[in-house]
Amino acid sequence: MKLTDTAHTFIKKHLNEGGICLDATAGNGWDALFMAQIITSKGKLFCFDIQKEAIQSTKQLLSKHNCLRQTRLIQSCHTKIESVIDNCFKGKLSVATFNLGYLPTGDHSITTTGDKAVEAIKIAFNWLNPDGVMSIVAYRGHSGGELEARIVENHIENNSWKYTTVRCSEKSTSPILFLIKKSERVN
Ligand SMILES: C[S@@+](CC[C@H](N)C(=O)[O-])C[C@H]1O[C@@H](n2cnc3c(N)ncnc32)[C@H](O)[C@@H]1O
Repeated sequence: MKLTDTAHTFIKKHLNEGGICLDATAGNGWDALFMAQIITSKGKLFCFDIQKEAIQSTKQLLSKHNCLRQTRLIQSCHTKIESVIDNCFKGKLSVATFNLGYLPTGDHSITTTGDKAVEAIKIAFNWLNPDGVMSIVAYRGHSGGELEARIVENHIENNSWKYTTVRCSEKSTSPILFLIKKSERVN
């Protein structure tokens, strides 16, 4: 099973129709579509990406599946959550997802970075509701990916957040999935 599928299985347990959620790295929109279909037009999904191409690609996918109504697409760095999303959503998110790295179909030199990702993860955690969860996939095979994964894991550990890691292999370059629950230990 791909780590993104494992992340989706986890998300599905914590997101319902009418839910409020965040995709901090929209990319081609696959995670966004997954969440948008669960929440339906009764919910709200905020999607961030710095690249116009990613926002357009996500828009196209969501439009094809009739999921634009519940979605707000934001071309901006994920560190801007607080200044972009209305404050009334603070503490209301059921799920926040981060799928780090580069846009597979785009310029591979444009990637997320550990410092910005951690800043955004910190904010997203605060914006989760008390039962909210976060999933973070970190890819370690590209330049800077291993460092980014380490920065993210150190942050999670230093904050004593309850989390579990999922790896598909013990190779140092294989991706890692972090599953975080705001309230309880992840089983
Ligand atoms: C691996 S892709 C995301 C895949 C996506 N979730 C999907 O389902 O297709 C990572 C994305 O992060 C975006 N990104 C890089 N730095 C960012 C930042 N500071 N803020 C928001 N998005 C960023 C990239 O442009 C890229 O599209």
